[in-house]
Amino acid sequence: MLGEGDGRGLAHMLKICPQARFDVVELSANMIGLANRRARGSPRVSFHQRDVMEMSWPPHTYDAVVTHFFLDCLTEAEVQTLIARLKPALRTKGMWLIGDFTIPRRGWRHWWAALWVAAMYRFFRVTTGLRARKLAPFEQMLHRAGLRETCRQTRFAGMVVSALWVPP
Ligand SMILES: C[S@@+](CC[C@H](N)C(=O)[O-])C[C@H]1O[C@@H](n2cnc3c(N)ncnc32)[C@H](O)[C@@H]1O
Repeated sequence: MLGEGDGRGLAHMLKICPQARFDVVELSANMIGLANRRARGSPRVSFHQRDVMEMSWPPHTYDAVVTHFFLDCLTEAEVQTLIARLKPALRTKGMWLIGDFTIPRRGWRHWWAALWVAAMYRFFRVTTGLRARKLAPFEQMLHRAGLRETCRQTRFAGMVVSALWVPP
């Protein structure tokens, strides 16, 4: 789980995947503290207080990668690098679960999402110093990298997507 934040996703995953072990990568020590509390110090979780962009993973290591509202923190070049490093780290039947903002291609939903997302980037740039200035087109990038979307749900007029991507 990359950029896991305060561990709400992790606590849920621990519940629904009772056999799984988790590597959680998170830059913020505070967030790791909160996540560890939510995970109740589970021995199935290893925390890594690291910058994801400085990491690489051996091939065929993980059954799943989880990024929830994390790709939106990265620049397009960073997402590209991450995809190139993570795709080989997935096992053959592995999957990449993504929850994030997205901008529908057409219609009023496009303009509605584009406005909200632009406003959020401005807000987070001022309040947190976020480096990324816009949402990387991560879905097109995953497609181009040869991953396949097998399951997709959207909320908020298509502005938030939850999807499962798998290797070819
Ligand atoms: C928007 S929050 C999302 C948190 C959580 N996944 C969620 O869905 O609520 C992004 C998280 O990624 C972490 N983060 C940002 N850049 C990072 C990086 N380069 N490496 C590791 N963690 C990072 C932040 O500290 C933050 O906790």
